[in-house]
Amino acid sequence: MRNFNKNTITDAVLERIAGATDPRIRQVSEALVRHLHAFVREVRPTQREWEYGIDFLTRTGHMCDDKRQEFILLSDTLGVSMLVDAINHPVPEGATETTVLGPFFVQAAPEKQPGDDISGGMEGDAMIVTGSVSSVGGGPLAGSVVDVWHSDDDGYYDVQQFDKIGDLAMRARFHTDQNGNFHFWSIKPAAYPIPHDGPVGEMLEAQGRHPWRPAHVHFMISAPGYEQLVTHVFVAGDEYLDSDVVFGVKDSLIREFQRCPAGRAPDGRMVDGDFFHLNYDFGLKQIASSARAA
Ligand code: BEZ
Ligand code: FE
Repeated sequence: MRNFNKNTITDAVLERIAGATDPRIRQVSEALVRHLHAFVREVRPTQREWEYGIDFLTRTGHMCDDKRQEFILLSDTLGVSMLVDAINHPVPEGATETTVLGPFFVQAAPEKQPGDDISGGMEGDAMIVTGSVSSVGGGPLAGSVVDVWHSDDDGYYDVQQFDKIGDLAMRARFHTDQNGNFHFWSIKPAAYPIPHDGPVGEMLEAQGRHPWRPAHVHFMISAPGYEQLVTHVFVAGDEYLDSDVVFGVKDSLIREFQRCPAGRAPDGRMVDGDFFHLNYDFGLKQIASSARAA
């Protein structure tokens, strides 16, 4: 087969991949070819535009290393990460909604004890976070692993200023107590722009978009037999709640970070100055096979 033209090329490629032995690879490859060819037919790129597209993706790849993942940023800012999340995490009544993981999660966060201050000495408004983890339709989940991480009051994560602060900060791993509760102290995070000094920033500018995310605290919560929960809690009133650059905001994840006067804090500690209080109660859903077995 030869002499393909714009009317015959799509079927020719589909025919060529029809022999893939893995049915999922065949399905994914066919859909990719159909949608990509349809995109080109609709957009009718000039040769120069196509070369720009190839160069954009090449620069996106070159920007990736163990500290920077420009392809994830591209997926996030095009709404693809949230679409994949929505397809894979239907949320039953009572379960906490999910949102993007983002690029600032660190596997080996320091283990901390209930009530520890995880700010690492960073300056900012004091904040106590209290919460609980329970099973949807069930009781508290003792011993759940709660990973938390957030930005400082200038909107930077520890890993973005490692040269300056020399250590991890504003991130930790806790375990819930026998009542499924956890609490810790830190500083209140601020809104921040995602890294926008690369191809994704160039794209956002060309599309007339800002690079900002509303202020939030990240949580990743695991318990045996339950689906791992990846989510954030957003600061109520933040100016970017309706225009989050990665489309991650859900109403159920917005909470008042309440300003409290100096005095006794929710953990019983006496505090000299004003502080903020965030409380969030998380609901985890059972893994489908465990739910059936239960
Ligand atoms: C974050 O919240 O850490 C994040 C999520 C997506 C892209 C960039 C940052
Ligand atoms: Fe974040």
